[in-house]
Order: sequence, then structure tokens, then C-alpha cells
Amino acid sequence: MMRPGGPFKTPPSRRLGHETRVSPLAASKRSRIPAFEVMRITDEIARRRAAGHDVVSLCAGEPGARPAPGTLQPAGYTGPLGTAPLREAIAGHYRSWYDVEVDPTTVAVTTGSSGAFQLVFLAAFDPGDRVALASPGYPAYRNILTALGVHVVEIPTGPATRYRPTPELLDAAAAEHGPLAGLVIASPANPTGTMLGRGELSALVTWCTDHGARLISDEIYHGITFPAAGASDPRGVTARELDPNAVVINSFSKYWGMTGWRLGWAILPPELVGPLEALASNFALSPPAPAQELALTAFTDESYAERDAVVAGFARARALILDAAPRLQWGTAAPSDGAFYYYSELGPQLERFGDSVRYARALLERADVAVVPGVDFDPGAGPSRAGGGQAVRLSYAAGEAAVAEAVDRIVRFQG
Ligand SMILES: Cc1ncc(COP(=O)(O)O)c(C=O)c1O
Repeated sequence: MMRPGGPFKTPPSRRLGHETRVSPLAASKRSRIPAFEVMRITDEIARRRAAGHDVVSLCAGEPGARPAPGTLQPAGYTGPLGTAPLREAIAGHYRSWYDVEVDPTTVAVTTGSSGAFQLVFLAAFDPGDRVALASPGYPAYRNILTALGVHVVEIPTGPATRYRPTPELLDAAAAEHGPLAGLVIASPANPTGTMLGRGELSALVTWCTDHGARLISDEIYHGITFPAAGASDPRGVTARELDPNAVVINSFSKYWGMTGWRLGWAILPPELVGPLEALASNFALSPPAPAQELALTAFTDESYAERDAVVAGFARARALILDAAPRLQWGTAAPSDGAFYYYSELGPQLERFGDSVRYARALLERADVAVVPGVDFDPGAGPSRAGGGQAVRLSYAAGEAAVAEAVDRIVRFQG
């Protein structure tokens, strides 16, 4: 059963309805490639068959699909941007969680959000464009953009802005590096867990609109949030609600715990739909069909209830680590508003261990506790903040018992 509504509903006054505003931003020059026509026709065949036509397809070069085990349907290629039922179900999720209308034809199903980043960055930016992102931040944004010849502008953040980019920081970055073609944000963010409230997100949307920069919002940790009772926007604010031209990226990996299924999605402004279809149809032909079929079960009442129970477990593990923080004798920690990360400077431990790489290695070798040094997330140190060489990230997704054991071992290890 498709889910009619979630426990957290956005008030109807926020509903945008179908947007007709035309984006002033264009797709990249390099994405002007022809679509792989066979894959487009695959989509058309699926549509006609769903409408009851008896289509004889001599189109795709695929053998008759092998019988699938269990209840799975035999799987052939799907359309390059995913099956119609899944794209519709994803649009339904936006109605249910955020009360926002999304046109299913602007939903692109991808191989994880990682696949969406590659396609969206290709479709949106040309080599030499400047794209800003917060540091510390998820390293793949920086690394994929760099691999695609895009110039990454790091926005150094720290405790002063709760590890969030701000319009003032973007002004400073543009003044130093030149005009920005885009901004990538994540809320909740990895590794800090920090979130952008409606006001902060709205200020970034305005900045991007005023400066002709494309906003790409990674919302993969939406739903893994720890709001106070009665808080507004308890799942997180989707950029789609504030800016119909924003690109929103999300995934089945985190809230739904389906990492290995390799399924994510992007919600696209109209000018990127064609380019993304052309790129996707050539790069991957189609997202994995069995995963798409099974992903339909993510949007049932039962599924949301089950996942919310898992998030409640993350909340308990988070409370445990926040309570234990004084015992760890580390330095300043990021707010950990959402996701399942605790990102902290090592403070006094640095005198003994030198940097977070050495600290993490010693902790693993001597106490069998694995944490991630911050260098991946933050390669440099700005003038007013510690860089990743001085910080570590703990994931409390492992649950309460693992976190309690790790804290005890860390305290013993530090002596
Ligand atoms: C912020 C963020 N975005 C995207 C991803 C990629 O996830 P996936 O490709 O499984 O959707 C991750 C994975 O850890 C992440 O932390």
C-alpha cells in the first residue's frame, strides 16, 4: 500500500503546488550528448504496456529475462531514469513528508546518491566552473567534482557558524576565487551532523538565486533527525520547497538502511531532465531493476514505522555519546543535529598523539576501536578553526551497546 501520510506533516500553507517558474540556469555544454535512443524507447514500451498495449519489442539487445527467485519479477532494463511506479512513489514521498508536489517526470532514479552526484555534476557544470562546498564535508563531492575538471571552492566552517556555510562565507569565497557556478550543501551533514534550519537554508537559496549559482542539496540523512517534541520541519527542510530550481539528491541508503541496493534519486529542474536522461542512458543504460522493484516497499506505513524505530535507536546511541563526552576528554564537537555522526576535535589528546591520523591508528591497534580521522572530510585548517587532522568522526549507527563499549575502551586507552 502506498503511504498516504507520515506522522510528521508539513502544514498545508507551505504547499507549493506545481511550479512554472523557469530556471535562468542552463545545463552544461558537455552534457549536450544524444540520449541512447534504445533506452528511451525502453521507457516508452513500459509506458505503453502499462496502458494495456500489446507491444512486440524488437528494440533492446537483451536476452529473455532469466526467471527470478522468490517473488521478484524477471528483470530487464528499465528506462534510463527508472521505472514509472518508482518515480511516482518517490514523488509521493515528497507529498507525504513535506507536502510538496514533485512532477514524477523530474525524478531520476540512480545507482545510489553517488550515481546522482556524477550525473548531476556532469549535467550542471562544465570544466573550469567553480563550485563551493562546506569543509568539513562529505569527501566524494570534492573528489567527483575534481575528477570532472570542476574547480572546488572550499568554504571553511567551524563552531562559529555551527559548521554551516553562510551567505557571508559565500561572499568571501566569491570575492577570493571569482563567481560560483554552484553550491553543494548537505543537511544533516556528514561528518558533522549539523542541520540547516528553514531560515538558514532560505538565506542560501536567496544567495544562489542572486548570484546565478545552482544549488545542489544532499538530503540523504533526512529522517535521521532528533527533533524536540513539536519542532517544525522534524524530518529536515527540503530545498525543493524553498527553490523549485534546486537539485535535490537523496537515497535509499541511510534512512531506509538499503546501502547495498545501490539506489538513490535526484529531483531535477526542467532544464536538467533531458541532459540527465542522455547521460544516464549512455553511462548506465538503466538503474538496477530488481532493486527498483523492491524499493517500492520502502514507502508503506509499515516501512516508515520500522525505520522510525531504527532512528529511535540512533537517538539513544546519540544521547549516550553526548552524555559520555566529558569522559572522552576531547575538544569542541559539532552539534550532531542529525545523521549518526559525532565529529569532535581531539583537544588535549593532540599533545600526546600529534594528529588525528596517529590517534585513530593507535586507538585501533591498542584498543580495537575504529574511528575515522577527519582528514578525509577536511584536508586543510583555516585560520580560525582546527582542520581534519585534529578531529575524528564516530558513527553511532552501530547502536547503543557498541557505543558504550567503545567509550569505555577509549577512556581506558587514554588512561
Ligand atoms: C552525505 C552523503 N551523501 C551521499 C552518500 C552516498 O551514499 P549512497 O551512494 O549510498 O546513496 C553518503 C554516504 O555515506 C553520504 O554520507
